[in-house]
Amino acid sequence: MVDVITIFPAMVEAALAEGVVGRARERGLVDVRVRNLRDYTDDRHHVVDDVGYGGGPGMVMKPEPLFRAVDAIAAERGPASAVVLMTPQGRRLTHREAERFSRMTSVVVICGRYEGVDERVTQALVTDEVSIGDYVLTGGELPALVLIDAMVRLVPGVVGDAGSVEGDSFVRGLLDHPHYTRPAEFRGMSVPDVLMSGHHAEIERWRGRERVRRTLERRPDMVENATLTDDERRALNEFRREQGHERD
Ligand code: 6GU
Repeated sequence: MVDVITIFPAMVEAALAEGVVGRARERGLVDVRVRNLRDYTDDRHHVVDDVGYGGGPGMVMKPEPLFRAVDAIAAERGPASAVVLMTPQGRRLTHREAERFSRMTSVVVICGRYEGVDERVTQALVTDEVSIGDYVLTGGELPALVLIDAMVRLVPGVVGDAGSVEGDSFVRGLLDHPHYTRPAEFRGMSVPDVLMSGHHAEIERWRGRERVRRTLERRPDMVENATLTDDERRALNEFRREQGHERD
């Protein structure tokens, strides 16, 4: 399902061995393989980078090892459905994109390092350039792990409770509501009464209102595209009226 190409295979493998993703791999629900880019070099020193044409600081990832790695994966598994390059120049990752990749039979993920990869890799090999946000990291390894984590938890059976995936905040376009566990009172802070009332319909109404409240406060940009129940729509109008009065 996923082949990761990296110059830091131990770093990527260590993260993929833990938690929900690690268990999914053990159970055979997903097939994630980590490949060392240096294994696809043909020189004695396993060189994967070189100085850039035109001068300037920083090294560029050479095309040959990346092409050989992707060709080798294609020979083993058949051609990839997508070849993803992790780069801050890419389109920002969304839940929708993670879903799209998650449904594919075979995805190759290339972790960019140094100043970038030779443009011919992007031109002839890469189908999608993906970034995980507007900040610069030292390489594509952590972004690749973010993408794979988001993909793997969407594979049926990986997350025990299917409802916990369907209710994902970004599925309906709202942030999540607050959560509480025992004890009912902790350092003077108590759990909202409604959550202990056992009144299921009331609890769902409260959660919907809290989702709307949080989204409006923290991510007003998301509210436009959210799918709201009648109760949530009412809550939204109410909170907006309150906000309007605060600004008066
Ligand atoms: Cl995909 N790579 C790097 N190096 N930095 C990033 C990124 C990717 N996404 C956000 N920042």
